[in-house]
Amino acid sequence: MSVNSRYALAATIIQLSDFHLFSPPHRIYYDLFSKRLYGRLAWRRRRHELRPDILAAMIDDIRSQAADLVAVTGDLTHLGFRDEYLKARALLEKLGSPERVMVIPGNHDAYVAGAWEKNYEILAPYLAGDEGAIFSRPPLYPVSRSFGKLAVIALNTAVPRPLWLATGRLGAAQLAGLEEKLEFFSGRSRVRVILMHHPPVPGLAGWRRRLSDDRVFLEVVAGRGAELVLFGHLHYRWENLLAAGKRRIPCFGVPAAAALGRSPARRSRYNIYRFYRAAGKTWRLKFVIRRWSESRSLFLDEECGEYELAGCGKDNG
Ligand SMILES: [Fe+2]
Ligand SMILES: [Fe+2]
Repeated sequence: MSVNSRYALAATIIQLSDFHLFSPPHRIYYDLFSKRLYGRLAWRRRRHELRPDILAAMIDDIRSQAADLVAVTGDLTHLGFRDEYLKARALLEKLGSPERVMVIPGNHDAYVAGAWEKNYEILAPYLAGDEGAIFSRPPLYPVSRSFGKLAVIALNTAVPRPLWLATGRLGAAQLAGLEEKLEFFSGRSRVRVILMHHPPVPGLAGWRRRLSDDRVFLEVVAGRGAELVLFGHLHYRWENLLAAGKRRIPCFGVPAAAALGRSPARRSRYNIYRFYRAAGKTWRLKFVIRRWSESRSLFLDEECGEYELAGCGKDNG
C-alpha cells in the first residue's frame, strides 16, 4: 500500500553514523602501552576507505532535506582523542543546531578508559535530552527528546574494551530506564524511536563486536514495545524487522558516513525516515536510503520502502 492522501506527514528523522574522525597527537609514545597504538596502525591500512569529501557532501545533502531531527548513531571519533571530538563538534555545527541534531556515543568514542568522560562535554548540547542540558556528568542514559507525536530515546552502549574487542553493553540500570521511558511514552501515545550504536540483533555483529546484553534489550522491547530501532557500528546497510517476542519492529543500520566501501553494502549512505499519520489510529513509516554515487559525486536515492507501525500507544487521536 502506498502512502496516500489519507496519511499526513507528521515528522521526519534522518540517520547518519560512524564518522571515525582521526586526529591523534603526533607524539605516538603516549600510546605505546595503549589500545590506541593498534588503532593507529589499523587506521594506516584502512584510511583510504574513509573520504572526508564524501562526509562533507553528505552533510550538504542532509542540509537540503527538511528534517525535524538528524540522529548520529555513534563512533564520531576514531580513537577518542580531544582533537577528534573537536572535529566532530565542528561537523555537527555544520549539520545543524543542537535542537535539530542528536548524537549518541559509539565504542570508538570510548576507545580507552576515560576518553568519553574527558571529552563528552565538547558534544554536550548535541547529547542532551528535552531539558536542553545534561544534569548528570557524564550523562546518564537513556536520554530522550520528544517532538510532536514522536519520542526519540537515546541509549549508550559504548564501554572501553580491551584490545581486539569492540563489544557494547547497556547494563541493568540503563535497561530499567529504557523500560520506564518506553512505558511513559506509550502512555502519551508517542511513536517511540530508539537510537543505539551496537545492533540489537543477536548474531549480526559477531562475538567480538556484539551487544553483550542484546537479549535483555529484546525482552524489554518485547514487553513495552517500540516503533523503530536505529543503529550504527556495523558499517554496512541493514534493514529488517527486529523480532522482539511477538513484536516485529522496523530496524535499520547505516554504513560509515565517509566510506567509499570495500563492498557495495559498505558504501556511504544515510537514511530518511518519514512518519505519516492517518486520521484514525494508524501510522506508517516511509524510508528512503540515500547512497553515495562515486561516478556522479553526489547522493542518490537507492531504495524506498514502507512499514505499518503497530502499537504506537493507546490513543493516537
Ligand atoms: Fe564504527
Ligand atoms: Fe562501533
